[in-house]
Amino acid sequence: MKPGQAGQRIAVLRKELNQHNRQYYQLDDPLIPDAEYDRLLRELSGLETAYPQYYSVNSPTQRVGAKPLSEFAELCHALPMLSLANALNEDELLAFDKRVRERLESGTIIYSGETKLDGLAINTLYENGDLVHAATRGDGETGEDVTLNIRTIKSIPLTLVGDRIPERIEVRGEVFITHKGFERLNQQQTSDGRKTFANPRNAAAGSLRQLDSRITAARPLSFFSYGIGDYQGAVRFTSHSQILEQLQQWGLPVSPESQQLDGVTACLDYFKHIGDRRDSLDYEIDGVVFKVDRLELQQQLGSVSRAPRWAIACKFPPREEMTRILAIDVQVGRTGALTPVARLEPIQVGGVTVTNATLHNMDEIARKDVRIGDYVFVRRAGDVIPEVVRAIPGKRRDDRRKVTRFTTPVSCPVCGSDVIRQDNEAVCRCTGGISCAAQNIQSMIHFASRKAMNIDGLGDKLIIQLQDTGRVSTVADLYNLQAAELAQLEHMGKKSADNIMQAIEKSKTTTLERFVYSLGIREVGEATARRLVQYFHGWDAIVNASMEELEQIRDIGPVVARNISTFFQQRHNREVIQRLLGEAGIHWPDSEQISGTALSGKHFVITGSLSSMSRDEARQALLGLGASVSGSVSLKTDYLIYGDAPGSKYSRARELGITLIDEDGFNRLLATPG
Ligand code: IVH
Repeated sequence: MKPGQAGQRIAVLRKELNQHNRQYYQLDDPLIPDAEYDRLLRELSGLETAYPQYYSVNSPTQRVGAKPLSEFAELCHALPMLSLANALNEDELLAFDKRVRERLESGTIIYSGETKLDGLAINTLYENGDLVHAATRGDGETGEDVTLNIRTIKSIPLTLVGDRIPERIEVRGEVFITHKGFERLNQQQTSDGRKTFANPRNAAAGSLRQLDSRITAARPLSFFSYGIGDYQGAVRFTSHSQILEQLQQWGLPVSPESQQLDGVTACLDYFKHIGDRRDSLDYEIDGVVFKVDRLELQQQLGSVSRAPRWAIACKFPPREEMTRILAIDVQVGRTGALTPVARLEPIQVGGVTVTNATLHNMDEIARKDVRIGDYVFVRRAGDVIPEVVRAIPGKRRDDRRKVTRFTTPVSCPVCGSDVIRQDNEAVCRCTGGISCAAQNIQSMIHFASRKAMNIDGLGDKLIIQLQDTGRVSTVADLYNLQAAELAQLEHMGKKSADNIMQAIEKSKTTTLERFVYSLGIREVGEATARRLVQYFHGWDAIVNASMEELEQIRDIGPVVARNISTFFQQRHNREVIQRLLGEAGIHWPDSEQISGTALSGKHFVITGSLSSMSRDEARQALLGLGASVSGSVSLKTDYLIYGDAPGSKYSRARELGITLIDEDGFNRLLATPG
């Protein structure tokens, strides 16, 4: 290829990859499969190596991080980064609005309402559309130069897109980690034998303040912009909401919750509306922010002591409250892990009464020096289990009641077996395995759960009853149950017994993925089970895989590989599995069956919400019929199944002339024998 041609191709690839990045990380709507993205990225990387004259620090290939720094340099913000005054209740918000109106001698004010993200403030500078540098807020005047780290965040564009790109613009916003990203990160930390993060904010801060940007690159950081600082450009801004809209058009992510609000009553409604949605958002917010929308009015109002008079933050009630630890109990989980749980003096946290909170593991108790009888802060974040954040040792003196240290049990509180702690592990485990009732029950509950074998009606209470009566001691025994004996159990009639028998029967036809997941191998969740099935194409290969082979699989490190390999080596586990696959008759479509079905080799995408089943159930049904199911529409897609509110995948599929199937059609398809 001639250098000129290579240069052109490089430019095309960078543009395409930037677009795909935006579709994937900002719009959550990828247009091409991951493999296709990787192919484009590899092509670009190959060309950049062959033609180094086209190197650019802002190429999408440069998001992987760079060599570690010895320290962060200081960076001065072109315009200071201000902070926000707070309104602690409705009256204070009304007072703010009154002050604003009085100063401006104006009637109703239009505000911009936004979520107040709980992450880290960042200032990024773009010159002629290129990301030049980025800094933390620091003291508001000067922050730390975290440019290399910011470049690795996929939702932050390295170059702006669209028209009338400004010569210079400081974009301000918040770097954060979603709840999902946080869970994934902590799982990864655990399987790497590292310490987990206490909450998404700490995880975001810890990830951004890494001297080695390659570590940041591997962390699931996100970004929303909420304003600008220094600006020189052709677009004339008259309102804050216009700025947010324009930032979005230049390819910067903006929170979809931002709204223009007419007057303070609309602000109060917005506060309530966002408060109601707080638990369903995938990221942590600690309040909302109201900003006078018209820039001219903002200027008239000015600032006082580093906070603008034109903006205010309204915080939600804290999800952290103080209470006292009455006792510390130890729970035994499915994998034998002992989890210390604090029994608390009941306390309202973010509108919910909390009586128990996890202390995670023995190391955490020691690190936080939490003792029985201590006053502690308890936190609730989204749907996450409440946790003890820290003790308040200063209050021990004020309180005459006794405070005692917690000691790690030497034997399991449920079965009495020895408790051990393996090297590099923060948790202690019961060695009782299957002989420990707690582990056994938890394993059975997991086995029967919806995403595992999906035995409808076989919940915690029934499993406990079955174990107590001695009728069931391993999951294989579930398949020997008789309707008559079930019907005799407490709270159980003939009808429910029959239903459970049917559900047990139905669970015998499953998918390999579900079966692997249902075994409850430590740290093998749905995603890992899927990876194992995709990689090995068959049960025997999974069971006999060596540690080395297992470690070849994406996201499987030495710890998970050891868990899998050890699990299948246990004689007891092999026996139970043999019974499940033998006498119980659990089976899944094998590759011959798949290739014989009508849907074999067909590529499906599902979009919108279906009324008769979840998308996951639809996906499982299709996989069971030999189809492949992908998350994004591409030229390879054969059919698009669409439900309600199908969104952009639907329009994309129409554009590409892909066969569209509605829910009725889909149900007919499933009912048609292969
Ligand atoms: S505006 C002049 N908008 O809250 C306005 N700040 O003290 C300055 N924050 O650390 C900030 N979400 O990072 C603004 N939608 C939002 C925000 C937001 C979160 C953070 C910000 C800063 C603190 C303000």
